[in-house]
Amino acid sequence: MTTRVTRYGAHALAAAFVAASACGGSGHAAADGFPADTLWMSAAVPVEHVEGARLFDEHCGACHGRAASGTDRGPPLVHAFYAPGHHADAAFHLAVARGVRAHHWRFGDMAPIPGLPGSDVERIVGYVRWLQREAGIR
Ligand code: HEC
Repeated sequence: MTTRVTRYGAHALAAAFVAASACGGSGHAAADGFPADTLWMSAAVPVEHVEGARLFDEHCGACHGRAASGTDRGPPLVHAFYAPGHHADAAFHLAVARGVRAHHWRFGDMAPIPGLPGSDVERIVGYVRWLQREAGIR
C-alpha cells in the first residue's frame, strides 16, 4: 500500500506525463478517435493505475463504460453493488475467467474474456477500486 503523500505525488506526475504526451502528438490522440474527455480522465488517473485504466478501456470499457460508469451493454462497476465488501477482488477474476450469469441487471450475461492474465486482471481491479474510492464507494 502506498501512502497518501506518495499517491498524490504520483498523481501529479501522471498528469504531467499525460499532458506532455497529449501536446507532443500534434493532435494524434484526437485523430485516433479518442474524445477529449477521455484524455481529461486519463490525466486524473494516478500513475500506478494508468496501465489498469488502459487494460480496462481495452477489455471491459465497451460494456462497462468510460471510467466504469456503464453503457447500454453493461452495468457501472462504480456502484455500491461492486464495493469490495459485496464483490471481493475474486469476483472480478471469476467474471473474467468464467463470465457472469445476469443476476443484478437486465443487460444479459457477460461472456468470459479469454487470454487475459491474472496479473492484468489485478491491474484492472486496482483501477476500478481507485475509481470506486474516488466516488466514495468503499
Ligand atoms: C460484452 C460486455 C461485457 C464486457 C466486455 C465485460 N463485461 Fe463485465 N459484465 C457485463 C454484464 C452484462 C454484467 C452484469 C451481469 C449481471 O446482471 O449481474 C457484468 C458483470 C461484471 C461483474 C460483476 C460480477 C458479479 O459477480 O456479479 C464484474 C466484476 C465484471 N463484469 C467485470 C468485468 C471486467 C473486469 C471486464 C474486462 C476484463 C468485463 N467485465 C468485461 C458485461 C461485460
